[in-house]
Amino acid sequence: MNIIPEIAANRDKLIALRRDIHAHPELAYEEERTANLVAECLTEWGLEVHRGLATTGVVGTLSTGDGPAIGLRADMDALPLQETNVFSHRSRYDGKMHACGHDGHTVMLLGAARFLAESEEFAGTIRFIFQPAEEAAGGAKVMMDDGLFKLFPVEAVFGMHNWPGLDVGRFAMRPGAMMASLDCFDIVIEGRGAHGALPHQGVDPVHAAAQVVTALQSIVSRNIDPLHAAVVSVTRIHGGDAYNIIPDQVLLGGGIRCFDREVRELLKVRVAEVVEGVCIGLGARGAVEFVSGYPAVVNRPAAVGLAADVAAAIVGTENVDAQSDPVLFSEDFAYMLEAKPGCNVLIGNGAGDGTCMIHNPGYDFNDDVVTLGATYWVKLAQAFLRDPVS
Ligand code: NI
Repeated sequence: MNIIPEIAANRDKLIALRRDIHAHPELAYEEERTANLVAECLTEWGLEVHRGLATTGVVGTLSTGDGPAIGLRADMDALPLQETNVFSHRSRYDGKMHACGHDGHTVMLLGAARFLAESEEFAGTIRFIFQPAEEAAGGAKVMMDDGLFKLFPVEAVFGMHNWPGLDVGRFAMRPGAMMASLDCFDIVIEGRGAHGALPHQGVDPVHAAAQVVTALQSIVSRNIDPLHAAVVSVTRIHGGDAYNIIPDQVLLGGGIRCFDREVRELLKVRVAEVVEGVCIGLGARGAVEFVSGYPAVVNRPAAVGLAADVAAAIVGTENVDAQSDPVLFSEDFAYMLEAKPGCNVLIGNGAGDGTCMIHNPGYDFNDDVVTLGATYWVKLAQAFLRDPVS
């Protein structure tokens, strides 16, 4: 691997910083300590630092004057999860954990910022975007609503997420939709309560809910073009609290995921129709409310080409999959890619036995990736500024 020597020399410091952030995880819009740390580093290295977008967002700028501008984005927030790891850098805070590797994302981008600030080996402007609240709270969108790209214009924006299951030293990306949109739903099914011995005197919402859950699974198999991917998952069901009472009401919750805007609309329409229709057929009343989540992450082909070339120059062509399968996870970097051309890549966090997926209480970011990720950011920024893609 062609790691930049100055970044390799900084390896221990970067890892210490990564572990410090891991030990002090902060949830959405509460990333005060992390943002302070990021801002202090950037200021020390001579970047122009702007704070306050989306409350805890930090933007560092390096500029050599004229030339194009590129945005590089990392996320800083942790998850509401109790860490089960026992290593010394485990979370110090009960119920909070860096289970998605945003500690690593933050430090990889810091490593790149330091090298580029000290070497000045680039021509143009680089915006280092550290966003809060990627997990479910849409910090990317809030930073944009707060004027991110107006205050800090860029021609393109790039992202990177670690990926367990992909070997260290490998990158994966694809042109077009790479990660799914996600919309959540709440379903209320109203029946009429009764004694468990007298079901004919009531309307059983538990029975209706069971039929609804089953019928919702027909949407993907019967309504969506088989050549398109989609998921409908009911993940929550609450109703009743006695053995012998049919309750008045059952609540369901879940989410729909897909890669295509039209499929997304169709899923919403069909979920509503199925819930209402099945409930009417059983004498109950069903209603759905959607909570719109993130759109799909859609990479621009030219940006994927650049990212793949840059990664290949570091780890070799054989370690870059530029036509990887899409995944049905979602990611709020999607909003930035709706506004600007760019590419989100996956960087291998390690594969094999014992590999722990993100959002798992035993997960940890792989420190072996820190200098590789930082090198990728540097080479990507330099390449883009030499020859911008759109
Ligand atoms: Ni994440």
